[in-house]
Amino acid sequence: MSSSELSVVTGAFGFTGKYITSRLLAAGGRVLNLTGHPDRPNPFGDRVTVAPFHFDRPDDLAERLRGASVLFNTYWIRFAHGRVTHEGAVDNTKTLIRAADRAGVGRIVHVSITNARATSTLPYFRGKGQVEQAIEESGLSYAIIRPALIFGLESILINNIAWLLRRFPLFVLPRSGQYRLQPVHVEDLADLAIEAARTKENLVFDAVGPEVFTFDELVRLIAAAVGRRPQIIHLWPGPALAFAKLIGYVVRDVVLTDDEARGLMANLLVSGGTPTAPTRLSEWLRQNAGCVGTGYASEFNRHYR
Ligand SMILES: NC(=O)c1ccc[n+]([C@@H]2O[C@H](COP(=O)([O-])OP(=O)(O)OC[C@H]3O[C@@H](n4cnc5c(N)ncnc54)[C@H](OP(=O)(O)O)[C@@H]3O)[C@@H](O)[C@H]2O)c1
Repeated sequence: MSSSELSVVTGAFGFTGKYITSRLLAAGGRVLNLTGHPDRPNPFGDRVTVAPFHFDRPDDLAERLRGASVLFNTYWIRFAHGRVTHEGAVDNTKTLIRAADRAGVGRIVHVSITNARATSTLPYFRGKGQVEQAIEESGLSYAIIRPALIFGLESILINNIAWLLRRFPLFVLPRSGQYRLQPVHVEDLADLAIEAARTKENLVFDAVGPEVFTFDELVRLIAAAVGRRPQIIHLWPGPALAFAKLIGYVVRDVVLTDDEARGLMANLLVSGGTPTAPTRLSEWLRQNAGCVGTGYASEFNRHYR
């Protein structure tokens, strides 16, 4: 990234976007944050400007993107709620891609997910696959990065597993818990995104760390890190999801979606390739044992309230 170059980051104040943005600024660049929450406090100062997504105003969106060398896209929704749907998120992202093309943006670095597939039966993974297709057909120079589960201090799933383990003596898992996942650290993901922005070659690759855990192992690892020895109970997916819904009702959030449970059980959060990121979750948990899961991280508070 050259000095004072403009990049656009969707969700520059969000989880992944914040780490990408801090790297762009450290390299002397400027960032435009496209966001659904333009009034949130700006933690970066005046080298980051802010504008609403404006998916309903494609001309304005294209105007905003003009002059940007790279668009880093993290925009997506975790679950449908009210009028917010995965189909709508696909349409919005296609609007963004077309606007970037019209504005002459040099490259798109898009954050997808492992095993995204346009024909998937799971709306999250299907939508991600459809967006990947749209990018590949757009004519833009692109890098598609496919992380599995992302961990870091602001991550929702790892944090909330720790939060539950700190509070309850038992933990419920769908089925055997033997399905696998391959977590990637948010700092590594941001490094990969910056690196991917520097080349012109079209790329599609997984962002995955060096460790693969079964879900059962992951829960036990987090439990050990926060000093708990829970009783782990394996239930059929229906009752396990009902249990997650009950907890969601108490914390006024969605703890685990049907898509996430089915994606996990189908081993969609693990890569078939070699690891692309160095940080070990086991190591990170040891270093962050004092703070992970001390508070509940609410998806609803972040995106709907
Ligand atoms: N977190 C993970 O473990 C994980 C794993 C695999 C793949 N990914 C992918 O990585 C990307 C970044 O994830 P993240 O966890 O860093 O996301 P995030 O910061 O929570 O959100 C990223 C962007 O999406 C927008 N967004 C999120 N939910 C929304 C909703 N319900 N309605 C409207 N806009 C919404 C946010 O809007 P605001 O700017 O208004 O906040 C932000 O611009 C996503 O594409 C995600 O699918 C994440």
